[in-house]
Amino acid sequence: MKGIILAGGNGTRLQPLTFVGSKQLAPVYDKPMIYYPLSVLMLAGIQDILIITRPAELPVFRSLFGDGRQLGLNIDYAGQDEPRGIADAFRVGADHIRGEECALILGDNLFHGANLPSLLRRSARKLRGCVLFGHQVADPQRFGVAEIDARGRLVSIEEKPERPRSNLAIPGLYFFDGGVVDVTKGLTPSARGELEITDVLRAYLEEGTAELVWLGRGVTWLDTGTHETLLDAARFVRDVQHRQGTRLGCIEEIAMYMGFIQPEDCHALGAGMGNSPYGQYVMERARDFSLGLPPVEFMEEI
Ligand code: DAU
Repeated sequence: MKGIILAGGNGTRLQPLTFVGSKQLAPVYDKPMIYYPLSVLMLAGIQDILIITRPAELPVFRSLFGDGRQLGLNIDYAGQDEPRGIADAFRVGADHIRGEECALILGDNLFHGANLPSLLRRSARKLRGCVLFGHQVADPQRFGVAEIDARGRLVSIEEKPERPRSNLAIPGLYFFDGGVVDVTKGLTPSARGELEITDVLRAYLEEGTAELVWLGRGVTWLDTGTHETLLDAARFVRDVQHRQGTRLGCIEEIAMYMGFIQPEDCHALGAGMGNSPYGQYVMERARDFSLGLPPVEFMEEI
């Protein structure tokens, strides 16, 4: 399965933070925001990843991840010259997808939960059409909203409805079959001039091939689109990390546990950041793994 991280847009809601530089590189506590969605794709077992961003930002993202080889990944880059909508990712990314199944994640979405990796891999395995996720929120009018019937079947999808029919928001993570590029070609832009992801999902729903997977209470989903939610996300990461002594979104550790790289490669990546607590953590994890110490909490995840 291919992966796409959509990390463009003008980040206007975060100005002046985003006057210079991409929102998806803003820090969420101890690492750039994009580490979190990248780690989600990696936990889903995806190694072939396209990062879409503003053309001016391409060199910055390239200098951060290169071709991804150090993480056992193949990372490519593409520019989106105007924010034409989330579904525009399938136009920009058509050559990357090449008719294969793909996962799209928004560069400002953060997910955490013990059962998330198995949930992702199960969803990818049984993909027939598209999979979208549902997560209960207090303010559904800010998001895409899914409505389900009494038997839990998906019946409607709306983008930021004034009067939401449920409190089930649709997070920015989606799995699609290879037909998504053609589905997107058939769309017309919305009133705000964008190709809406909810229109793509609705097209699959009308075909009867859209499946909703409920992210239960065990999964936390945060988006980081405003100063408040950005700070909330940083606090969340800090609190979990301090309490557990682990790191969320640690791409070097995940690459090692997923078998994408060897422990010695992971250790070398940590050593390259040796002065930082993050680098120390990466080295410790690599050492523990080489000694055969089971990464207990992580193995539950994968
Ligand atoms: O966060 C989940 C929500 O994301 C979904 O529930 C909604 O259905 C979906 O439309 C989206 O809503 P947002 O209001 O959060 O979308 P926003 O325009 O803020 O874009 C989300 C991210 O995607 C943001 O980091 C910028 C990036 N983006 C957006 C557009 C429209 C691009 O890279 N290119 C674009 O053309």
